[in-house]
Amino acid sequence: MKIEQKIWGNIDNKDVYLFSLKNQNGTEVKITNYGATLVSVLTPDNQGNIADVIVGKNSLEGFLEKDQPYFGAVIGRYANRIANGQCTIDGTTYDLAVNNGSNHLHGGIKGFDKKVWDSETIQYKGRPALSFSMLSPDGEENYPGNLKVNVVYSLSEGGELRIDYKAKTDKTTIVNLTNHAYFNLKGEGSTLSQEMLINAKEFTPINKDSVPTGEIWNVENSPMDFRSSKPIGQDIKSSYEQLLFAKGYDHNYIIDKPLNKLGFAAKVVDTESGRTLEMYTTEPGVQFYSANWIEGVEGKNGKLENQGAFCLEAQKYPDTPNKENFPSALVTPEKDYVQTTIYKFDVF
Ligand code: BGC
Repeated sequence: MKIEQKIWGNIDNKDVYLFSLKNQNGTEVKITNYGATLVSVLTPDNQGNIADVIVGKNSLEGFLEKDQPYFGAVIGRYANRIANGQCTIDGTTYDLAVNNGSNHLHGGIKGFDKKVWDSETIQYKGRPALSFSMLSPDGEENYPGNLKVNVVYSLSEGGELRIDYKAKTDKTTIVNLTNHAYFNLKGEGSTLSQEMLINAKEFTPINKDSVPTGEIWNVENSPMDFRSSKPIGQDIKSSYEQLLFAKGYDHNYIIDKPLNKLGFAAKVVDTESGRTLEMYTTEPGVQFYSANWIEGVEGKNGKLENQGAFCLEAQKYPDTPNKENFPSALVTPEKDYVQTTIYKFDVF
């Protein structure tokens, strides 16, 4: 395993780096401390041809473009939506930025994805790893509590990219961190033929503004069912209302595993290249987003098309702070936030 580092730019007098983690089996992962963002995963197909399976940008300037859709970044404090940007914590109501229709999305105007994080090369579980840290001050984006956040990326010789998150607060707050990587196991083009399996019998249905209604629905007999592997495109064009609301998949799946335990969440297979991606997480939910709004966005090699990528975002359920029946997203000074998510890249 090898780690390299180069200067990528400078923002507000803080150096931005591009790091590379390389294992001996030909997988190379590139990460920047701007947004603690996953920039590239270069990995071979079953013939040894390398492709970059992360859709996004090639340069820091690209990541700085307004309205780029959170490519590869760490999202916080609260990934996904909070209805009307409002939540009540310990009896106080907080007004968060309304930046997605009438709702709060992905931490607000300047979320964790737009920060330059401190970075350090460390040893983690016996491997060289990258550690990113920052302090989100009390009141930032109107969230309560000084929150110290740490994210560690490590790559195994077996192709497992592991992301360990930790956050510590001095006041009760809400935390929901995720990585917003856009994957495409072919490297580019449509992902509709890539086969998805999600380890979930249930999902949280949404209203027309993509906020969960609070209900929990079974996936059975609906296009939402990914318990057996099927092409992402197989049912995506059906007139099922949930798919019409989101122009495709953009839903929180309830992963079938014990709460807070690391467990299998999803597997994606590209039968053409033989590349596979497996996901494991401690989180209760995974947002499967079929990239329904990326058409025309400049990617690494030209303009992207809708469904030219997919996201599998480990998370607490969206709008948990306003839903009593969802597993809590509260973090207190007595109890830190912890999360582990693993993306394993392989071939068959
Ligand atoms: C959300 C989508 C949103 C995308 C980019 C995803 O996590 O679920 O609704 O369009 O992020 O912002």
